[in-house]
Amino acid sequence: MAWYTNAVFYELYPRAFADGNGDGWGDFAGILERLDYLEWLGVDCIWITPIYPSPLKDDGYDISSYYGIHPNYGTIEEFRLVVDEVHRRGMRIIPDLVMNHTSDQHPWFRIARQSRQSRLRDYYVWSDTPSRYADARIIFLDTETSNWALDPVSQQYYWHRFYSSQPDLNYDSPAVQQAMLDVIKYWLDLGVDGFRVDAVPYLFEREGTNCENLPETHEYCKRIRRFMDDHYPGTILLAEANQWPRDTLPYFGNGDEFHMNFHFPLMPRLYMALARQDRTSIVDILAETPEIPPGCQWGTFLRNHDELTLEMVTPEEREFMWNTYAPEPRMRLNLGIRRRLAPLMNNDRRKILLMYSMLFTLPGTPVLYYGDQIGMGDNIHLPDRNGVRTPMQWDSGPNAGFSSAPSYQLYAPVIDDEVYGYRRVNVAAQKADPDSLLNRIRHMIHVRKQQPALAEGKLHWVEDAPLSTLVFWRTSPDQNLLILHNLADVTVRLSLPPTMPALAIDILTGEQITTSEPLTLPPYAFRWLASATGA
Ligand code: NOJ
Repeated sequence: MAWYTNAVFYELYPRAFADGNGDGWGDFAGILERLDYLEWLGVDCIWITPIYPSPLKDDGYDISSYYGIHPNYGTIEEFRLVVDEVHRRGMRIIPDLVMNHTSDQHPWFRIARQSRQSRLRDYYVWSDTPSRYADARIIFLDTETSNWALDPVSQQYYWHRFYSSQPDLNYDSPAVQQAMLDVIKYWLDLGVDGFRVDAVPYLFEREGTNCENLPETHEYCKRIRRFMDDHYPGTILLAEANQWPRDTLPYFGNGDEFHMNFHFPLMPRLYMALARQDRTSIVDILAETPEIPPGCQWGTFLRNHDELTLEMVTPEEREFMWNTYAPEPRMRLNLGIRRRLAPLMNNDRRKILLMYSMLFTLPGTPVLYYGDQIGMGDNIHLPDRNGVRTPMQWDSGPNAGFSSAPSYQLYAPVIDDEVYGYRRVNVAAQKADPDSLLNRIRHMIHVRKQQPALAEGKLHWVEDAPLSTLVFWRTSPDQNLLILHNLADVTVRLSLPPTMPALAIDILTGEQITTSEPLTLPPYAFRWLASATGA
């Protein structure tokens, strides 16, 4: 089995994780001190969001040099040390690769915009009118009114799918294609284990299309994959392609494009099913999810550093999600919800754990977001997506143990309210409490990784279970697991399928279960059952 098929990923936001040099910003020195925590938690692979030089107009997703490190995070030598220390602990690390666009401060763009004859002009996409590619949607709806911005220097428009300070690279240029392969080579030579590739669908543009998922984009991604397979076996590509399942499938190619793809449409439906106390939305989206080629894997998640995107739901579903989970306008952003998991669950521990149970037992490799494993809150008074990127809460000491700087110097205030504040919600306190959210999640991670059926097993619904439950089998050649979730706030009694052996064991608690009798599931409870005789 490929390593990423049975793995737990952790999204680490370097600015927010740990400050080692006391300047109020997270950095590599801080990460080094906290790697033991990630190992203890059971993390196999760290996805680290952009670490490169950047004016930080989009928190590092606006890169001004692909070959360096943002000085706030440290140096390239320190990053190399992080990579080595990650490997020494048996973990892996994949940085973000932002291929689609650069910062407008990148030397390529500075040169390109100097004149229409500039030698790097064709590194970017230019037009005399802002009317080309009219069918491409605007992604940052709350801030941008067009995908074109007028460059005052050369008096032409340049194309940008995100902020106007992030001009899109022109992948029709062979030089750009080669330049990005060079970047990839540089980081792989440094020892990283692959990349989380940002904004994949938008690499190419073609008139008369929505400029997403074009055949040329797939071709170029396959080229990258070939290069990695030939020279860096064992490294992976994880795509951020926020698309419907039918459009995401091609990113796996025939097992020759991305190893992993995030399953964007599943994510909001986990929240929807819980709010509606009805599994239908989950079942339907997985029915729409095609089989993926061997050696490929979905990346599944509950939250990440962006807004909880509602792009891959119907308009009615979006209204429902907004009304339920983001009643205040400032909780919303673009087509999404800018809140963290615990507040979305009203800090109801049963619901938080239930969400994690679904994440750990449905198909896919789970990707955790820093802070959510202790139930961190958010700060909706901070702009953009910053409210879900506040300092990691390590302990109840000054600045939550994140930094020794004076509080006013922190890049953002720590969460300090009654419910989610760091004095109550922190790693140290939860590590010491065997029944804490953190320890419960850690336990689930460790149990999950022992079950081949959860990594690569087939999924079969138990269809006659009530709609307010999510009950399914995960079956692999040598293991059958029966997974039960109660999505409702009332106790349910479930008859177990006749195929279940007479004696089962709950692999999370070790409890033995006589399967001839109905099983009682309290509100929001879940069980992971295996045959007690090992079949
Ligand atoms: C997706 C990233 O997750 C997001 O944070 C960023 O703003 C856009 N891509 C643009 O790079």
